[in-house]
Amino acid sequence: MNKNVNKGVNKELLKELVEKYKNESGALIPILQEIQESFGYLPEETLIFVSDEMDIPLGRIWGVVTFYSQFYLSPRGRNIIRLCRGTACHVRGGKRLLEKVERVLGIKRGETTPDFEFTLETVRCLGTCFLAPVIMINHDYFGRVTPGKVENILQQYIP
Ligand code: FES
Repeated sequence: MNKNVNKGVNKELLKELVEKYKNESGALIPILQEIQESFGYLPEETLIFVSDEMDIPLGRIWGVVTFYSQFYLSPRGRNIIRLCRGTACHVRGGKRLLEKVERVLGIKRGETTPDFEFTLETVRCLGTCFLAPVIMINHDYFGRVTPGKVENILQQYIP
């Protein structure tokens, strides 16, 4: 399980982080990045705290976190699966691959398994089209993946 998930927010740590940026202008994105790094995602109460402490309207903070895809508002899995849905991967069976991963994990794209082991995301191109269809798990690339290989690949990431 992600070490930062379901433990609640460490208020001391949050205070420390905000304190560091409190008087800096243009610090909203860096502070959000640090909070996410510390907690694994951006729990709602951290955004409210930042809004109060830094005197930034909550609506503006929501605007930023929903605009940038780097920010997450819900806990993510220990392993992040990025399955390519680009053209090269699509024509080489990307759709069947996605269906297989969804079936094996019991989640749909954009979701996280209940044990927080895996989050499944789709991306437009992983930049390795010559290996299509491609799946990336954390920092590892798997090329020319067939639905039959999915279970073995995922197995490698289960402790
Ligand atoms: S389209 Fe899948 S890696 Fe480029």
